[in-house]
Amino acid sequence: MSKVRIYTIAKELGIDNAEMLSILDDLGVSYKSVSSTIEEDTVELIKGIIAEGGSRAAQSGAGASTEAEAAQTSQTQTPQPQTQVQPEQVAQAPATAAPAADSGMTAEELAELAALEAEEAAEQAATAARAELPHRAPVVTIMGHVDHGKTSLLDYIRSSKVAAKEAGGITQHVGAFEAQTSRGKVVFIDTPGHEAFTTIRARGANVADIAIIVIAADDSLMPQTREAIAHAQAAGVPMLVAINKVDLPQADPERVKADLTTINLVPEDYGGDVITVPVSARTGEGVEDLLEYISLTAELEDLRADPKGKFGGVIIESRVDKQAGVLATVMVQEGTLKVGDFLVVGENYGKVKAMTDSAGKRIKDAGPSTPVQILGFSEAPSSGELVASASNEHEARELVAQRQEQRRDEEEARKKPRLSLDDILGP
Ligand code: GTP
Ligand code: MG
Repeated sequence: MSKVRIYTIAKELGIDNAEMLSILDDLGVSYKSVSSTIEEDTVELIKGIIAEGGSRAAQSGAGASTEAEAAQTSQTQTPQPQTQVQPEQVAQAPATAAPAADSGMTAEELAELAALEAEEAAEQAATAARAELPHRAPVVTIMGHVDHGKTSLLDYIRSSKVAAKEAGGITQHVGAFEAQTSRGKVVFIDTPGHEAFTTIRARGANVADIAIIVIAADDSLMPQTREAIAHAQAAGVPMLVAINKVDLPQADPERVKADLTTINLVPEDYGGDVITVPVSARTGEGVEDLLEYISLTAELEDLRADPKGKFGGVIIESRVDKQAGVLATVMVQEGTLKVGDFLVVGENYGKVKAMTDSAGKRIKDAGPSTPVQILGFSEAPSSGELVASASNEHEARELVAQRQEQRRDEEEARKKPRLSLDDILGP
């Protein structure tokens, strides 16, 4: 059951906060302040009361004096939101916060209310601004137990969905690739299933919008299946379960579904909400359905990013090529990455000398949800590290210097002996 803030409901119902609190008092609902939350059930009750013919406050005649007092005092006491918000948003935000005299609220509570309302208005403004941004492709991470068929599934999708492009320049294996599906672009990230690679799976889950848990139908739940599920849950990413290898005679997809229920993942045909898709990476059976579910899930997530905004990305993997030098795979998350840009990762910086897409084609710029391989770092960055951009070399150096200084300060602070309680209290 979801909860809602008292003042939000008051605003929605068009009554003032004092009235709202008096209705709650009548109902015997306890609360701390108007910023406390109440159950949705209670809201229904309140709606009923109001529909019945006005609030209790109005019935008892208190309403008139409340209004009069409000008129007198609202100009001096109504707190104004402090946060920067769009003018129209401010206009929509209620200027009706009840004055302290009759709301039973202290000045502190009023200030808290004003801050909360300003925060809400700012949030609304941000949501409204975000809704204007273009959609971006979902980033889908494939996880599961060793040998359950993650890479095979991606190979199938890749060979059938990635139009062969002319590879120019540095063609390398990239753990992330883009695929065109009938419902648009999808970015996939493969992860290893071996137990040694826990951190890679955790990072994979963290950059994902959607996690696909691959479970072999002849093997069912295994230790790294459970681990992968835990990573996806910890990262708060929606999950789809691909029950793979259904072409095998010993495949038992029903057993996989039953096993899932034992870890509180109840498949749809068991009355739950976990989507399971039977697939075969060998025959391609079910792969189209899986892609369909990915698109549907992505639609619900309403993924957007600003290609014109400030660049932000994350390192997927990096390695040193004897001839080319450091090759780093970067996932562009916000903004657009261009050849010639300066990038800062941790305490290193580099200039993008060359960039290729996941098909190995040289490109000059890359927008949100694009995995690219770049040449230009002098040291290999670690996967999972965040990538920022700087407008020139000077700015990049400054940023690195700042980070170094901050790290040294933190190290110093850690070195200093801490005072014990005995030091403070004396013998
Ligand atoms: P790791 O990356 O080591 O965790 O393994 P993985 O999950 O990527 O498995 P991979 O794709 O390497 O496949 C493991 C084995 O299963 C290979 O021999 C595949 O040929 C086989 N395999 C994968 N998918 C299928 C399938 O749908 N049907 C059958 N019959 N075999 C499959
Ligand atoms: Mg693999």
